[in-house]
Amino acid sequence: MIIPGSSSIALSRQLASELNRDIAPVEITRFPDDECYVRLHSEVPSEVIIVQNTYPDRNIMELFLLQNAAREAGAQHIITVIPYYGYCRQDKKFQEGESISARKLAHLIQQDSDLVITLDPHKPILDAFFDIPLLMPSAIPVIAHFFHNKKIDIVLAPDKGALQRAQDTAVLLNSGYDYLEKKRLSGDKVIMESKTLDVKDKNVLVIDDIISTGGTMALAIHNLKKQEATAVYAACSHGLFIGQAVTKIMAAGCTQLISTDTLESPYSHVSVAPVIAEALSSHSP
Ligand code: R5P
Repeated sequence: MIIPGSSSIALSRQLASELNRDIAPVEITRFPDDECYVRLHSEVPSEVIIVQNTYPDRNIMELFLLQNAAREAGAQHIITVIPYYGYCRQDKKFQEGESISARKLAHLIQQDSDLVITLDPHKPILDAFFDIPLLMPSAIPVIAHFFHNKKIDIVLAPDKGALQRAQDTAVLLNSGYDYLEKKRLSGDKVIMESKTLDVKDKNVLVIDDIISTGGTMALAIHNLKKQEATAVYAACSHGLFIGQAVTKIMAAGCTQLISTDTLESPYSHVSVAPVIAEALSSHSP
């Protein structure tokens, strides 16, 4: 049985159909002071799959309550699917006095969980923070599939650290790959050092794990259009699209913007349900 958190209703339905499971009738409401209330309106089988993001903050509490309600209702094996793991940026103390939020959240999530699945976490070190099994499948195959008939010549990562993602996508698309030189000055300010790439008259795909403010992607597209790329597609696993992100990206000359449904938006043209289903079926406890 799948228990859909309010961040992931459409994805839960897709997953239910992939796995041929029922969707649990669940009531999720808020009190006038915004405290969350959840109630399961049916008995639960011994194994349940809860699907809920840990972003934004209010979804975290809802996740804990759903896990607790499932346990209280007698679930023996709780699989927690976190399509987008919020709070993954802080995986260590960059400065004395900081909290390690990715680890703290992991400790809280695993209290009522037996297996956790999350897609393309910002920091793969997440693995080290869980004492229960954690699966981290990638959305790259479904993203690459979306672009298979777009004649992509080259896949680019917006920075060197993300090169592996570009390479993995390029292998599936049978195209070249490279990276751009990005420097982050602050949370919402990035610069890209000019780097000459062989993109003139080519179809380019820029792929990132997250699009947040859109600054990184817009800058990348701007650079590539300046270098006379024909089409510049933008793709990400997790489309947060904060503020004017989409406007910035489109204004930079983006041909098409797509994300997956880890965060549901009008740009969720690709579903990660088959990826989650495959991870589940290949996991042997
Ligand atoms: C950075 O390491 C990430 O991979 C993304 O490039 C970044 O989070 C995107 O942020 P923004 O859209 O705000 O530039």
